[in-house]
Amino acid sequence: MGCQYFEPTDNGANSFTVAMPKLTFGRGSLAEVGERANAIGFKKVVLFTDPILESGPIVEIVRKSLTQQNIQFSIFSAIRIEPDDDCVMQAAAMLKDADPDGVISVGGGSVIDTAKGALLVAQHGGHIRDYFAAPIGNSKPVPGPVLPHIACATTSGTGSECTSITVIRLNDLDTKFVVASPHLLATQAIVDPQCCDTLPGNVVASTGFDLLCHALECYTAKAYTRHLEIKDPNARQLIQGANPFSDLSAQKALEIAGKYLVRGVADNTDKEARDNLMWGATLAGIAFGNSGTHLPHAMSYGITHLMKDITTDGYQVSSPFIPHGISVIISAPSIFKHTAEATPDRHLEGANFLNADTKGATKDEAGEVLHKRLVELMRDTHIPNGLSGVGFDHSHVNALAESSFRQQRAIANAPRDSNLVDLENMYSGALKYW
Ligand SMILES: [Fe+2]
Repeated sequence: MGCQYFEPTDNGANSFTVAMPKLTFGRGSLAEVGERANAIGFKKVVLFTDPILESGPIVEIVRKSLTQQNIQFSIFSAIRIEPDDDCVMQAAAMLKDADPDGVISVGGGSVIDTAKGALLVAQHGGHIRDYFAAPIGNSKPVPGPVLPHIACATTSGTGSECTSITVIRLNDLDTKFVVASPHLLATQAIVDPQCCDTLPGNVVASTGFDLLCHALECYTAKAYTRHLEIKDPNARQLIQGANPFSDLSAQKALEIAGKYLVRGVADNTDKEARDNLMWGATLAGIAFGNSGTHLPHAMSYGITHLMKDITTDGYQVSSPFIPHGISVIISAPSIFKHTAEATPDRHLEGANFLNADTKGATKDEAGEVLHKRLVELMRDTHIPNGLSGVGFDHSHVNALAESSFRQQRAIANAPRDSNLVDLENMYSGALKYW
């Protein structure tokens, strides 16, 4: 496609692929999981969830639905927020023992990502680390399909139910890394907004900024035509850069975030806002599943790697802990100010989708306009005031940059090239916003 952002380049890709699971969205749709599993041919499944959900009403809906269809299930729930490689290996061993027809995951990104990693290891062997890119892992390609998987999202942020990636923390490096392969896409995704009805406002704020950043990073990602062409179509990843399809989903997700994020955080009885945020998260998941994120996600990994003595209310996790969405958004205003120089039109459009006042703004002001709107949304939803709000100061900037600089795949998907000093400057600009 030769138009504007997607002009052909020498040696660049000239096609893009769109893939996503069969998606069912709507209030009450989780109760259909048994019938959907039955239609796939599941007789025996492993149900992945977390310890809190396991004893709650959401998993009860799933148990009942599976029982009604005479589908046997065993449960794996030893999953904490930000799952690690030990957890994935333990889940893979359980999967091998159980020998199911498929997997059903019910939870946020941590649960769904654990299921994807366990399915990979149970089917194709080795250690999950083998599948991470070198030098962290062995760059082992995912050789083929895994068992069918129905992913049911219970938060309005992750998008993992619609993506081909899994994010796992490596214990010995204490840092998260990504495995990406079209084979990791779930077979079906069920997104039922009633799962979010009881989420506290600060959890919706974190997941809401995760969805916002997924969408904004997709919309501003390097165009697929600027990524090197991979001749073998079967070797291509869905993390392929911005493309006309991911633009569509990302734009709508940004409009939803601009309109409903503050409302959904402020009032958990505002069903219109909460349902729209769930739809926005789904759209943003579909978008980044087909394009990839860039610097805000890459630079969030340094933050969760080096965080100390910090906890966040509303999460039953031991210290240190910063929710994923917060770790992503706190550097984002500073990062987009840096990347706007490369593609100011895209950044201005992104700000416009988020309801910023862009009237009369010039290209030179694109980064400033987007920065201002993001900070406004952060303040209105009580997000920590930049890195200083989660325990970092100027003395941590170098270490943060060095840690995140290892996320080369995501860094390379940004519209502007960045070296280590650029990362340091972006972190410095993110220390305090107001
Ligand atoms: Fe994310």
